[in-house]
Amino acid sequence: MHVMIINGSPRVQSLSNTDKIISRLVKGMKTEDEELTYELYSISDRKQWDAAREAFKRNTEILIAIPLYVECIPGLLLEFLDTLEKKDGNTRISFVLQSGFAEASQLRCGEEYLKKLAPMLGCSYGGTLVKGDNFSYRFLPAEQSEKPLSAYDEMGASYIRNRGFDSDEARKFSGPEYFKAPFRVFLGIIFATVAPLGFKAMAKGLGCTKPLGDRPYKNS
Ligand SMILES: Cc1cc2nc3c(=O)[nH]c(=O)nc-3n(C[C@H](O)[C@H](O)[C@H](O)COP(=O)(O)O)c2cc1C
Repeated sequence: MHVMIINGSPRVQSLSNTDKIISRLVKGMKTEDEELTYELYSISDRKQWDAAREAFKRNTEILIAIPLYVECIPGLLLEFLDTLEKKDGNTRISFVLQSGFAEASQLRCGEEYLKKLAPMLGCSYGGTLVKGDNFSYRFLPAEQSEKPLSAYDEMGASYIRNRGFDSDEARKFSGPEYFKAPFRVFLGIIFATVAPLGFKAMAKGLGCTKPLGDRPYKNS
């Protein structure tokens, strides 16, 4: 199979969690189809848009991997999609919709949109792999992100077997829709106590010199 893959993140490829997920999906695809070939385009790089548009016309098997940004599809990806010509129905688009927060329920609104998007682009809908809890890959050392990322290998293989993500395997991968009440309470305590310390350390590591609650435009 030959797959055109689009990374819909506005974040540069080298820092993108979506890119790391795509790499593992491709690894899994190759275990199921040794002849698999693919071409990857990153929406964060506008210089790739012309080639991506041409590839969209030419390919019949397309996978768009998208991070959830403020409960939505990133605006930069929408801007790109807006420039595509509608196809004639011979193409299948499948999606990966991934996010930071872990409950699958918060991705369902975006998933409903993607079901509509495929026919709007003149394509059939190949399902969406919905999965949260992907926030930390770009912060973690490779050995710590290996285990959660490696789960995507199997989903890559599943994509080939099922010709997309409209499958029970993919649906099961999403994990819990909502956390149970005791776990929510536990999370509330963690986010009120320990987590802010982690966020501060993370921000410092990224070069942040002001407090996280800083409001530089408050008085302007
Ligand atoms: C501006 C911004 C908005 C985000 N909004 C959400 C959100 O609404 N819900 C969520 O679960 N994660 C949210 N995230 C987390 C990302 O979905 C998550 O970290 C994802 O793995 C990022 O993928 P990327 O590095 O390829 O862009 C947001 C991240 C950023 C930077």
